[in-house]
Amino acid sequence: MSVHRGRHFLQIPGPTNVPDRVLRAMDTPVIDHRGPEFARLGQEVLEGLKAIFQTRSPVIVFPSSGTGAWEAALVNTLSPGDKVLMFETGHFATLWHRMAKGIGIEAELVPGDWRHGVDPAAVEARLADDRSHAIKAVAVVHNETSTGVASRIGEIRNAIDRANHPALFFVDTISSLASIDYRHDEWGVDVTVGGSQKGLMLPPGIAFNAVSEKALAAAKSARLPRSYWRWEDMLANNQSGFFPYTPATNLLYGLREAIHMLLEEGLPAVFARHARLAEATRRAVRAWGLEILCLEPREYSNSLTAVLLPDGHDADRLRRIILERYDMSLGTGLGKVQGKVFRIGHLGDFNELMLAGTLAGVEMGLRLAGVPHKSGIGAALAYLSEEATADARETRAMRA
Ligand SMILES: Cc1ncc(COP(=O)(O)O)c(C=O)c1O
Repeated sequence: MSVHRGRHFLQIPGPTNVPDRVLRAMDTPVIDHRGPEFARLGQEVLEGLKAIFQTRSPVIVFPSSGTGAWEAALVNTLSPGDKVLMFETGHFATLWHRMAKGIGIEAELVPGDWRHGVDPAAVEARLADDRSHAIKAVAVVHNETSTGVASRIGEIRNAIDRANHPALFFVDTISSLASIDYRHDEWGVDVTVGGSQKGLMLPPGIAFNAVSEKALAAAKSARLPRSYWRWEDMLANNQSGFFPYTPATNLLYGLREAIHMLLEEGLPAVFARHARLAEATRRAVRAWGLEILCLEPREYSNSLTAVLLPDGHDADRLRRIILERYDMSLGTGLGKVQGKVFRIGHLGDFNELMLAGTLAGVEMGLRLAGVPHKSGIGAALAYLSEEATADARETRAMRA
């Protein structure tokens, strides 16, 4: 392996690049997690997280990866044998379904082609059929990190309401939170599952459950066994900024800084930046003559793009060449699409010139790997500079 200089390009769809401000914030002595300084930190991050989830409800923080927060959502609200409706949007939806079955839930997985999001009409039809209200929850992945497809959560909420069904609504936002617009309260979500290592720009290691009043009421009668994931103990301790067990102290310092950074930019600007960089990426992919895995433009993900390679070309070989030659990590194809797609992460602490470098690395890699393509990066750059010109014009007009 050759020696590389300069920064490694971490362009997988999470964990993402951690900004220096966040790294510096975490670079501090560990404090007493039962002391007054910690209580202030705890209260500040627990309050700040509400803005990120767009909720007034409590957000629970676990020292865990996102998988733990999946489990917490299920075990706090459900009982053995409860029926849950899930949708096969890709690898992560499939894993969540497997977990649900493994812990004694009767989870139904509506089959999907890994190229579309959850169909709100299918949700409505399935729930309307369930006259006895046997289905206790609908669980969907907002942004399928394995495919780059984002389901339409607001429309799914409306579908549940149209079916007049009392099911709880669980949403995994692990790769959408703080990069694609997400509204826990407005969209009537009961448990939102989040993770630290993507849009929040933190290292892996903490995960979240935002919980509605309906979810808290369900927790009172839910009978699945739980101990580490129990919400009640967390919420009781969180009142004063503390945790029932040792929290990930230094990650919380990082979280405080990340929340400051996101709110200083403003969530609408964060979402617009992700939308702009994602659109530029898609223009490059089309200009290369390659195919975007997501087939529905309304469901394009703004945090990553999964790109299909032509038959006979191995996406993992391309990724290997790009890593060895240009020191850039791209996302591998997962599950059913392994070897067929590579994924470009364009989320988190990310800007125009980082994207230009990323796309240049992909384009040079395509050439080295012998994948037929045309030049594509110019299409992305033209779009980004047109957007910037339009922005400047708008600012001048507002000032005039
Ligand atoms: C959408 C989604 N859900 C769940 C997970 C699992 O999270 P973790 O690997 O942090 O346990 C991931 C991980 O990438 C993900 O992207």
